[in-house]
Amino acid sequence: LNNGLARTPPMGWLSWQRFRCNINCVADPKNCISEQLYMDMADRLAADGYKEAGYVYVNIDDCWASKERDPKTLQLVADPKRFPRGIKFLADYVHAKGLKLGIYGDMGTLTCGGYPGSKFYMSLDARTFADWGIDSFKMDGCYSRTEDFTIAYPIMEAFLNSTGRPILFSCSWPAYQIESIPDYPRIAEYCNIWRNFDDIDDSWSSVQSIIEFYGTDKGNFSGVAGPGNFNDPDMIIVGNKGLSPSEAQAQMAMWAIMAAPLFLSNDLRTVDPESRALILNKGVIAINQDPLGIMGKRLFKNSGIECWLRPVTPVGSYAVAFLNLNDGGSGTTLKYTLKTLGIQETATFNLTEVFTGTPLGVFTADKSITVFIDVSSVFLGKFSKISG
Ligand code: DGJ
Repeated sequence: LNNGLARTPPMGWLSWQRFRCNINCVADPKNCISEQLYMDMADRLAADGYKEAGYVYVNIDDCWASKERDPKTLQLVADPKRFPRGIKFLADYVHAKGLKLGIYGDMGTLTCGGYPGSKFYMSLDARTFADWGIDSFKMDGCYSRTEDFTIAYPIMEAFLNSTGRPILFSCSWPAYQIESIPDYPRIAEYCNIWRNFDDIDDSWSSVQSIIEFYGTDKGNFSGVAGPGNFNDPDMIIVGNKGLSPSEAQAQMAMWAIMAAPLFLSNDLRTVDPESRALILNKGVIAINQDPLGIMGKRLFKNSGIECWLRPVTPVGSYAVAFLNLNDGGSGTTLKYTLKTLGIQETATFNLTEVFTGTPLGVFTADKSITVFIDVSSVFLGKFSKISG
């Protein structure tokens, strides 16, 4: 979507994976979906270095609303117990910290969690979000007909656009069409980011299933990615319980290669220092945020080893990921040349290991490189073009 937003993949925080639809603020006041939760996360983003690294969106997901619209104005209203000061207050709060506020809704009659949907109210809801100072809107697709998506998502985009407020549009459109081939060119025309596949869970198997879906690239959705348009493989779960340190590194590496939005869904109040350092790693963020906005693709998959390649700046450079998805054995040593990866150029490259920034030497396309990749681990390298 060419609205000036998401020129690189958006970064921030999103509540769903970690906090789901926990509305029990009496028993669990610190973890329930409430204004306090989003204020706490905004505080952490601003104070703990995340904002400076680019993580600026604080995104509300499902279960924020009251079960009924305002009987007089028909507007959506936040649950009065859990959001006593309303969404506008929250938007002002996060804006004062230099952050942005995202909200969630649904194109059908209800959200997936059973809260009011936007069907029949799209124009009013777009206006309401703009009045509140919302910066991003995720529109889910529960309680609706998938045949309607091709019209309903563009209509919502038009209403958002007509508010005059820049609102990033996150669509769940293709995620409800996994069995068919979604109309990706149309989706990219009307959405800034879009979920293609299943929800992420806090596990390595969930991360692997997502990587497999994106590697298969059914319908060539990688081809429509670019500044303003990104495929969204769902949230970053680093800092939770489900991934080992090397699996966490693999998630960050692959989301960087895929030019994926980086929405953290963890508890920023308790993230361990190692996870935080990984989330803030400058090298991996630079690949994710590369201004060309080209989505990397899987080149091959063989005996549990995958190779992915993403063209990056300076033009003619590449980020390369080798992923070892085997869960037995003691790792694999790989020997390859850029030529074997399909790069024929006569250029010279500096190779750097991305996470540590370690220089690995100067390479031409036919000089071989040896890397060791342990099980459930990734090697992420950047070949920066220096001449040729
Ligand atoms: C389905 C979406 O894919 C999730 O990310 C989340 O928004 C839930 N719905 C909320 O009900």
